[in-house]
Amino acid sequence: MGVKRLITVIVGGFFGDEGKGKVAAYIGIKENYTLAIRTGAINAGHTVFYNGREYKFRALPCASLKKDVEVLIAPGALIRLDVFFKEIEMIGRHSGIYVDKNTGIITEEHVRREEADENLTKRIGSTKQGVGAAMADRVLRRLKLASEYEELKEFIVDGLEIIEKHMSSGKILIEGTQGTFLSLYHGTYPYVTSRDVTASGILSEAGIGPKYVDEIVLVFKAFVTRVGAGPLEGELPPKEAKRMGIVEYGTVTGRPRRVAPFNFNYARRAIKLNSPTVLAITKIDALYKEAYGVKRWEDLPKEAREFIENIEDELKVPVKYIGTGPEMDHMVVREL
Ligand code: IMP
Ligand code: MG
Repeated sequence: MGVKRLITVIVGGFFGDEGKGKVAAYIGIKENYTLAIRTGAINAGHTVFYNGREYKFRALPCASLKKDVEVLIAPGALIRLDVFFKEIEMIGRHSGIYVDKNTGIITEEHVRREEADENLTKRIGSTKQGVGAAMADRVLRRLKLASEYEELKEFIVDGLEIIEKHMSSGKILIEGTQGTFLSLYHGTYPYVTSRDVTASGILSEAGIGPKYVDEIVLVFKAFVTRVGAGPLEGELPPKEAKRMGIVEYGTVTGRPRRVAPFNFNYARRAIKLNSPTVLAITKIDALYKEAYGVKRWEDLPKEAREFIENIEDELKVPVKYIGTGPEMDHMVVREL
C-alpha cells in the first residue's frame, strides 16, 4: 500500500555528542522522511546548522526543521514544558507536532532534587536537568504524564496511531539520544544516564517492534568525547586535544568535553549492542582539515578515505554517511 515502508533508527555509538543531530536532520530532511520521532529526554542537546542558522534541540527531533515532516515525542521520552514550547517557537509551527499522551513531564522540582543530590552532581557529573529524578518518579508511578497537562492539549495523541499512519504510507525516522556507553544497562555504570539509549531502548521508548525496522544507523565521531565522570579509554591530556584541534564544549552544560582517539574496542562493542545496518562517521574534518565541507567521496583527502576504509575493514559494517562540517549538508553519502 502506497510508498514502501521505511523505518530508520539513529543511535549514538560512543558517549553521546557524536553528531547525531546533524545526521538525523540530514537523513530526515534530504531523504524525505514523513515522520520524525524523538526519544530520550532534554538532557541531550542536538545541534544543527541549517541554512546558515544554528538550532539547538532538546525536545523535538532535528528533522522538525522541515515544515512537512510530522513530529512525535515518544511515550518513553521526557520533556519540560518550557523547553518544548521554546522549540515550537524556534521551528515556527504548531501543525504536525504531536506529543504522546504517555510522554513524561519534568518539573522544577525534579531539577531541584538533582541539584541537591551529591552523588549525581559531584560523583556522576549529571547535567542536572531533572531527567533521572523524573525517571525515578515514573518507576514509582507518580510522575505526571503529558495527557494531564492542559497546556499540551492540542498536541496530545496516541502515538501508535500516528506511527501506523506513516507505516502504511510514509517513512519514519527515530532519533535516539546520548550514546551506547551512557546506557543505564550497557554503559559504564554508574557513570551513565537514566535510560537505555541503545537501539532496542530507543525502539521500546518509541513503541515500534524491532522486526519493523529496516535501517539502524550507528553514529560514531571520528574521535571519542565524554562529558562528566567515568572511564574513557585512551583519554588525551587536554593540551594534546587542543593541539589536535578537537576540543569541544557541551550543548546543554557548556562543559569542556574529554577527548580520546577513535576507539575500536568501543566501536566493536557498540556494534554488538546495536546491530547497525550502516555507520555514520562524523567530524572527519576535525582530523583532516581539507575534508571540510566536502560532499563527494572522491573529493575527500586520501588520508580521510583511508581512515574510513580502515574502519570498514575493522568493523565489517559499511560507512554510509561521513560528516565533513557543521552545516546539515556538509556530508558525503556513499552508495552502498
Ligand atoms: P544525566 O543523565 O543528565 O544525569 O547525566 C549522567 C551522565 O551522562 C553525565 O556524565 C552526563 O554528562 C552524561 N550525559 C547526559 N546526557 C548527555 C548528552 O546528551 N551528551 C553527552 N553526555 C550526556
Ligand atoms: Mg549533545
